[in-house]
Amino acid sequence: MFKPLNILDDKHKVLREISKEVDLPLSKEDKDTIKQIMTHLKYSQIENMASKYDLRPGMGLAFPQLGLLKRIIVIVHEYEEGKFKNYVLVNPKIISHSEEMVALETGEGCLSVNREVEGHVPRYARITITGYDPDGNRISIRAREDLAVAFQHEVDHLNGILFYDRIDKKKPFFNENEIRLI
Ligand code: NI
Repeated sequence: MFKPLNILDDKHKVLREISKEVDLPLSKEDKDTIKQIMTHLKYSQIENMASKYDLRPGMGLAFPQLGLLKRIIVIVHEYEEGKFKNYVLVNPKIISHSEEMVALETGEGCLSVNREVEGHVPRYARITITGYDPDGNRISIRAREDLAVAFQHEVDHLNGILFYDRIDKKKPFFNENEIRLI
């Protein structure tokens, strides 16, 4: 039986804290939480499930958004219409990135931010991120474009950073000559 997650919104100060590294392998409890997050994120991106359970669409979630200050992120990426790939990273680190920056043309959203925040968020176009899977195996992922943006957004959560912190208040929008909009 599916039960939507209770996701904290950004009035909760816990979202501004730095999450702690986690010992591996993960506990059963943390593994169960990851499964719940995956289901929630997947359903949120499937229209009829999203409306059935009243879910806002989102492709990523970090543990602190559930009030758990642990360095664990989950992304459910729809890489093709109706096809999803799950990514779980424990103690993730972005070890390299492109020079090139991009921004999502329509701006970013966050399951902890229940309102529209306008503005472009500059992100690296390509990154390599390393970390561990829930059983403690080391993993390394190369990501580009929207998936790279998602990883950077989720790692920010582990450091108490929200996407709108990265929007320039004086000049919230870039033009095509300044950054590649995706
Ligand atoms: Ni978020």
